[in-house]
Amino acid sequence: MDTDMQDMTRKTFFNEKADTWLDKFYKDPETGIHDRHSKKIKKIISSLNIEPDHKVLDVGCGSGVLVPYILSRLSSKGRLFEVDYAENMITQNRKVHGYDRITFVCSDVMDLPLEDSSFDSIICFACFPHFRDQKAALGKLAGILKPNGILTIAHLLSAKEIADHHDGESAVSRDRLPVKHETALRHPDHEQFPIACTILIILN
Ligand SMILES: C[S@@+](CC[C@H](N)C(=O)[O-])C[C@H]1O[C@@H](n2cnc3c(N)ncnc32)[C@H](O)[C@@H]1O
Repeated sequence: MDTDMQDMTRKTFFNEKADTWLDKFYKDPETGIHDRHSKKIKKIISSLNIEPDHKVLDVGCGSGVLVPYILSRLSSKGRLFEVDYAENMITQNRKVHGYDRITFVCSDVMDLPLEDSSFDSIICFACFPHFRDQKAALGKLAGILKPNGILTIAHLLSAKEIADHHDGESAVSRDRLPVKHETALRHPDHEQFPIACTILIILN
């Protein structure tokens, strides 16, 4: 299967899972609240150095598991952008979280209709392995990050656990977290990375 076809299959997969995504991965069976893994997620969010008036991008946001954690750090002057290319994820996210301080955008990470150098913090949570061109995606994200902004790529699983988790599902079976992150950091087209932003990769 070529890369475009693979990505269409992947996007269909996420669209089909959107309605049940939060329940499946984040619902505490005892309380019914979507706060499973909240301790680890809070730790990740605290590393973003979010200030109350910041503009934050949650890319590959899915149905919005991070929304309450990020909003709790923003004042009325802050703004959260929830971006995903799967329309059903954005629809579900909007249904659950409303519009207070949130801008929802349905877009591929490669086509983000967002202003250059405008975000204080960008998080890719549990989505980076799914980007079809990871180096190009990093370039795009670096472009919209403010100088000294923070780009965080974070997961609740290790790279090996992510690979095992994806192995069982053909739509995402080849999606991997790069093991040699320094390759991406040194990509020749994006010389500005090491000085323009901080890339923080958090693994379990
Ligand atoms: C494993 S889910 C994680 C969703 C959410 N971050 C969470 O942890 O619940 C990966 C998400 O990345 C999105 N995604 C994958 N490739 C994308 C791309 N090229 N551009 C934008 N979103 C993408 C998918 O639609 C999906 O919602």
